[in-house]
Amino acid sequence: MDACIRNLDRKGNAVSGTTISRILVTGSEGQIGSELTLELRRRYGAENVVASDIRTDPKTSQGELGGPYEVMDVADPAVWREVCRKHDIDTVVHMAAILSATGEKNPLLAWQVNIDGLINALETARELELTRVLCPSSIAVFGPGCPRENTPQETTLKPTTMYGVTKVCGELLCDYYVHRFGIDARGLRYPGIISSETLPGGGTTDYAVDIYYKAIEEGCYTCFVREDTRLPMMYMPDCIKGTIDLLEADFHKLQHHGDFNIGSMSFTVGELATSIRRHVPGFEVIYAPDERQAIADSWPASLDDSAARAEWGWEPSFDLDSMTADMLEKLSKRHAEGRLYG
Ligand code: SER
Repeated sequence: MDACIRNLDRKGNAVSGTTISRILVTGSEGQIGSELTLELRRRYGAENVVASDIRTDPKTSQGELGGPYEVMDVADPAVWREVCRKHDIDTVVHMAAILSATGEKNPLLAWQVNIDGLINALETARELELTRVLCPSSIAVFGPGCPRENTPQETTLKPTTMYGVTKVCGELLCDYYVHRFGIDARGLRYPGIISSETLPGGGTTDYAVDIYYKAIEEGCYTCFVREDTRLPMMYMPDCIKGTIDLLEADFHKLQHHGDFNIGSMSFTVGELATSIRRHVPGFEVIYAPDERQAIADSWPASLDDSAARAEWGWEPSFDLDSMTADMLEKLSKRHAEGRLYG
């Protein structure tokens, strides 16, 4: 591994070296992790990006961009040291997490995976003097009482889900490790992420992905939140670009660390259905709100992301209609080939 040269941040704290050459991605089989792993392999070389997940049947070890893979329970501290030493890791992209809806079914599991997992990442970075840790946060850090429109970067964070609690705590931990130990930790608050490749699992915003699959498959979707539910969303290509842009940003230009708001688009389910109907005439949505409605109602409708734009040049490309056109084109093609679900 390259010698780790510690820099000083503005306050004179040591900050780990700046070389990104050997990356560990946790949660590599998840919705975002799977596509992020492939893009990082394109950029850094397949052999330099180690994928890891709790799953024993990894997709990320197959195909042209297949590469090293480790089965990893992120809540186990020993496995972190072992994997990072074995592969000479200098950078961790920590995507493993339990999302909001699953977290409400099993709050303790959410705590273990999201908090024990992150503290293990940060402690490993401190002990092994890794270059950098990126751990995403979420719009779930906000709670009722926050301004819902253009939600500011800095506001009171009182989430009502265990997922949100772990993400607030995670942001604070990242910032603490930056200031206390000079670890370069960074993170961004993902909105709902929509993608055509790997399905999301256990999130409140999953409806915004499921709806496209059902539009293609059945021409009808039963939605678990109300028609007027408006949440911030983002298409996967923007999510991957933003994540890598933040990963590669100059530490000295960052005033925030673990908690960047990133906005892209915001729409109600009704508006999403209208956008789909332009391609799938007669598409129908039935509304049957369940316990996820209360979670959605506690989150922002749109975000002020001026800090991300100013500090590391965040700029999304897709809007609702361009995303819909791309999603439906990709899914229709797979459906015609008899492999809608991959
Ligand atoms: N997509 C996540 C969820 O719904 C929010 O970050 O839980």
